[in-house]
Amino acid sequence: MRRKITVVGAGNVGATTAQRIVDNHLADVVLIDILEGVQQGKGLDMLESGPVCAYDCQITGTNDYKDTANSDLVVITAGLARKPGMSRDDLLKTNFEIVKGVTEQAAKHSPDAILIVVSNPLDAMVQTAYKVSGFPKNRVMGMAGILDSARMSAFIALELKVSVENISCFVLGGHGDSMVPLPRYSTVSGIPITELLPKDKIDAIVKRTQGGGAEIVSLLKTGSAYYAPSAATVEMIKAIFFDKKKILPCAALLEGEYGINGLFVGVPVKLGTKGVEEIVQVKLTAEEDAALKKSAASVKELVGIIGV
Ligand code: NAI
Ligand code: 2OP
Repeated sequence: MRRKITVVGAGNVGATTAQRIVDNHLADVVLIDILEGVQQGKGLDMLESGPVCAYDCQITGTNDYKDTANSDLVVITAGLARKPGMSRDDLLKTNFEIVKGVTEQAAKHSPDAILIVVSNPLDAMVQTAYKVSGFPKNRVMGMAGILDSARMSAFIALELKVSVENISCFVLGGHGDSMVPLPRYSTVSGIPITELLPKDKIDAIVKRTQGGGAEIVSLLKTGSAYYAPSAATVEMIKAIFFDKKKILPCAALLEGEYGINGLFVGVPVKLGTKGVEEIVQVKLTAEEDAALKKSAASVKELVGIIGV
């Protein structure tokens, strides 16, 4: 039997994630939103792509959480996206109410599911989903680090004119302006970029990575990125469904790791069938550690405002 994934929010990220899920033959998809007809229309349109793209996955759009029952995995993309001039944090209070409500419903109908949260501000929204769902920590995680690392990899590939397949990057911390790209752990065929690029080029890549979301917002003007975010979300789903034990940067609950306690922050984790199976701890320099703590402090401030 095929697996079942609910995608909450049928906007840009939600619909593109649904499309990538079925294109990869990963699961049947239920697309749920508060709109009237849009999620049903997009679902039907994707279902009708099946004969051309050769997938048998079923996709349905709905307004009713009963249709989401017993999903193996739930992706939460519901909420407002950024407009030019807005930070991710400007979305805090509105998206908190939305994520709280959708998590209650999703968790009630799929009590054994794994939750991947995408809505912003990411780390505070994952913390919300964790508290509201009551799920164990391994089954609640946030997507951001893979996206931020992919952006960094893309910029390095452009600079060095090498294949993206040669590049592996790590970006830690909260998914905000204080995220922490780690050049020392970013490599091209195993060679740290610190050996391949001068400091000013690396600094420019780090800065562009930190502003990667805002760069797209300023170009799109009506919303934020969704192609790379949906690709990153599906990478997490594949690691979980195929029990790959893949080490990926995700927002996970830290309980003392990296000296941070009781907070969801982006760190390398091992993703497998149980979800977050391990927090991978890497050695940080004093400077990197200070940057991670600063990023975690901004997450803590947001979490404090919404009281989760
Ligand atoms: P969008 O505006 O295209 O779609 C959001 C959808 O959520 C809309 O269709 C809306 O009707 C729906 N929605 C609102 N309230 C709802 C509710 N109570 N129940 C179900 N659906 C509801 O926005 P987009 O571009 O899809 O972004 C979604 C979220 O993901 C935003 O918060 C955005 O900032 C965040 N995001 C996070 C990324 C990350 O790296 N973690 C990357 C890209 C986006
Ligand atoms: C991004 O980084 C908006 O968080 C979203 O593109």
